Amino acid sequence: MVELLHTDRLLLRNWSATDAQAALKIYGHDDVSRWLHDSERVPDAATMQAVLQRWDAECNDMAPGTGRWALTLRGGGPLVGGINLLPMPVPEADVEIGYQLAPEYWGRGYATEAARALAHRAFRHSLVELFALVAPHNVRAAATARRIGMEWVGESDKYHGTQLQVFRLRPDDLTRAGQK
Ligand SMILES: CC(C)(COP(=O)(O)OP(=O)(O)OC[C@H]1O[C@@H](n2cnc3c(N)ncnc32)[C@H](O)[C@@H]1OP(=O)(O)O)[C@@H](O)C(=O)NCCC(=O)NCCS
Repeated sequence: MVELLHTDRLLLRNWSATDAQAALKIYGHDDVSRWLHDSERVPDAATMQAVLQRWDAECNDMAPGTGRWALTLRGGGPLVGGINLLPMPVPEADVEIGYQLAPEYWGRGYATEAARALAHRAFRHSLVELFALVAPHNVRAAATARRIGMEWVGESDKYHGTQLQVFRLRPDDLTRAGQK
């Protein structure tokens, strides 16, 4: 189980198998899946349901502070996206933040709002830095990383076997970005 979080507009909560149909609008969409590390588009609701069940089960074994959250609009609104804090492949002590929105909800600041809230929470859980790994032409994901205060620290293929832009967030970066 992940801890519930509220922002002004969003509720961050556990994934449930009943989210499958709405989640397919995110993970079944080419404009989203092409940017994810495995690049695999989820083909149908049954597969999506199995993926969500796996994510929910994995969360039980994860280190405190990490996990996968579904993003819904507050007040019983629709599922708009997902956000995760996951251990990096190398070194495993590092944590990656990843965000995904259904394309119909891009351009409203939801990923930024969720990422800020999750980063504040992660730093309260004693994490000292977070990373984002962004494919070279993924302009929107890089812009979100910068909007929350992340700094570009380099480029590497050591994480997922393909060249990725590495962004890092520390507590001071988050505070500074929040003051702008
Ligand atoms: C990456 C992704 C989540 C970014 O979505 P997004 O809606 O652009 O992200 P943000 O939440 O940062 O929103 C910023 C946009 O909302 C606008 N906005 C509106 N209200 C806002 C607010 N209150 N706060 C911030 N931005 C706001 C900004 O001006 C900006 O608009 P523009 O880029 O269209 O000019 C989305 O493109 C996506 O799901 N991509 C596929 C998956 C992916 O690449 N994930 C990342 C892998 S590393």
